Amino acid sequence: MHRPKILIACQDQATRQRFTESVRFRYRAVAVEDGWLALHLINTSQFSAMVITERLESLNGLDVAYSVRESHRNAHIPIMLVAQRITTRIREMIESGIVDCCIDETAETGAFLFEFNAMCGAHAESAWSALDADIEHVLRTTRNTYKTVFSENTTDIPMDSRLLSAAADTVVDAVRNGRITAVMKALQTHDDYTFVHSLSVAAVLAFFGREIGIRDGDLGIMAQAGFAHDFGKRTTPQAILYKPGLLDTAQMVVIRRHAQAAGDILRRSDGIPAEVINVAERHHERLNGTGYPNGLHGAEIDDLSMVAAIGDVFSALIDNRCYKPRYAPQEAIRMLRDMAGPHLEPHHVAKFVEVMHDTDFASCMASPLTDEAAAE
Ligand SMILES: [Fe+2]
Ligand SMILES: [Fe+2]
Repeated sequence: MHRPKILIACQDQATRQRFTESVRFRYRAVAVEDGWLALHLINTSQFSAMVITERLESLNGLDVAYSVRESHRNAHIPIMLVAQRITTRIREMIESGIVDCCIDETAETGAFLFEFNAMCGAHAESAWSALDADIEHVLRTTRNTYKTVFSENTTDIPMDSRLLSAAADTVVDAVRNGRITAVMKALQTHDDYTFVHSLSVAAVLAFFGREIGIRDGDLGIMAQAGFAHDFGKRTTPQAILYKPGLLDTAQMVVIRRHAQAAGDILRRSDGIPAEVINVAERHHERLNGTGYPNGLHGAEIDDLSMVAAIGDVFSALIDNRCYKPRYAPQEAIRMLRDMAGPHLEPHHVAKFVEVMHDTDFASCMASPLTDEAAAE
């Protein structure tokens, strides 16, 4: 599988390794400690993004950033600066576009990954205007809804249900017009994986629903449920959401709160369909009662929530995450089958697998990044 190549220029070996490790499932990182070497590499090879620390051997990070921007070749490459503190000069560099963002060198890995993903995501979005108008419309509408919801970090503030239905409508239209595979392909270059996952689950559910003959109005409900199911993650700290390794027990407790949090946000919001709230609260419930937040059993879980759980697991398996690589669709399908019975509803899994086998939808969701995206 091709991964885009990024350059990490960092004097401190431990920090260099930490950054390299944290992006390893999504990027091939070339890590150096010398400023001149970084400049040479960036001017002679193709990279998708750069991380530069202020302090480097031979040429400091700020001068590297200026030189990179002056070169015609890398005028638009995303650059993250890692500095001891954000000075007036650095602020001016951000404002004038010399660097895209800056984080404190003491920032924890989760904050680093969040900022890095946000920077690369913004860069990917700037390329959306070159897509067909209908594809761009789906991506921008869903992205705007997602950003509005995630601009808050509590459950106290309701969301505008019209934003959710508008986002879902674009997904259903794309499914109906046979354009959803193009949307999913375009989505692969985006780095905000909670957004990518939300849109993927919306698309999977709407696609599956249409294939099994669900009516248009109900497809909209399925797409809303898929898109909103993880909205509760807006309350999850970045250090946990973007932790590159496995979560410890206390962190698992925190992240598991997102299901109830999503329900709380949606209940507070006028005009959200009850089915959508159910899915938000129940997509981690499992048939044998081992799920959360309420340990529901079998028939206590409604049909749509059981279907959403399948779409959620499938999307999570074939997505890149900071703690795991993506699985191939066939491997993900095998894992879904293993979960049928104790965890996932077996009849729905069988139907889901059948649909995914008979179409190229799954492979387009998970196909490797193209050579162009890999930048070499
Ligand atoms: Fe979830
Ligand atoms: Fe999810």
